[in-house]
Amino acid sequence: MRLVLLGAPGAGKGTQAKKLIDKFGIPQISTGDILRKAVADGTPLGKEAKIIMDKGELVPDSVVIGLVKERLAQDDCKNGYILDGFPRNTAQAEELDKVLSEMNAPLDVALSVDVDKNDLMKRLTGRRTCKGCQQMFNIHFSPPKKDGVCDKCGGELYQRDDDKEETIKNRLDVYEKSTAPLIDYYSNKGILKSVEGVGSIDDIFNKICSILGS
Ligand code: AP5
Repeated sequence: MRLVLLGAPGAGKGTQAKKLIDKFGIPQISTGDILRKAVADGTPLGKEAKIIMDKGELVPDSVVIGLVKERLAQDDCKNGYILDGFPRNTAQAEELDKVLSEMNAPLDVALSVDVDKNDLMKRLTGRRTCKGCQQMFNIHFSPPKKDGVCDKCGGELYQRDDDKEETIKNRLDVYEKSTAPLIDYYSNKGILKSVEGVGSIDDIFNKICSILGS
């Protein structure tokens, strides 16, 4: 299955993608994770990206499109993938369509995870991520058993630099302006499906599985 996950920052795309990986045996391609790795590794791309990400703006299209093209060409994407955080605007969506049509492998589904804007701030300010295995927690909704320590691998939990209130506000504005129009884009292509992203993580996952027909 070739799937795009759409949704505002904090809607739960990454959380659900991590569960979908296990269920469908296909990789998650998160442009945010790829960029954060470049930042952590201190590469030239990471240094350039960090300044933009810390403001909550979008990294240039040419950069992310290049990263995604490279990733899609890898062997583990042959049976499908979950695109999380890409595309982020119409130009990226059009370029993705072009690449996939050259590969003769169009998208199957664009799934929008819908959450009210008022809930997103608390989710994002409360998010903590494991440095080791990237498992996500939330100090308000799904805290780890021990403060600052990952339940899964014992790794150290950290707060993302862009999960500060001011940056979150800008990320939400950027989403409305640049990314929300993709709902219509994929609806017009007849591949849009939606799920309400409110409730327990497992309930949402079960709804997604039934939407995806498995
Ligand atoms: P990216 O990493 O893609 O961040 P985002 O889109 O802002 O999305 P998030 O990761 O914040 O949210 P999510 O929906 O995955 O929610 P999560 O599952 O973590 O992008 C970061 C930056 O990188 C961008 O700002 C940009 O600069 C750059 N970038 C990335 N891609 C780009 C692109 N294509 N083009 C240009 N620039 C790009 O959940 C959030 C929290 O909520 C967690 O704590 C979780 O535990 C909790 N939670 C999840 N589900 C529930 C639930 N049902 N109930 C209660 N809490 C829940």
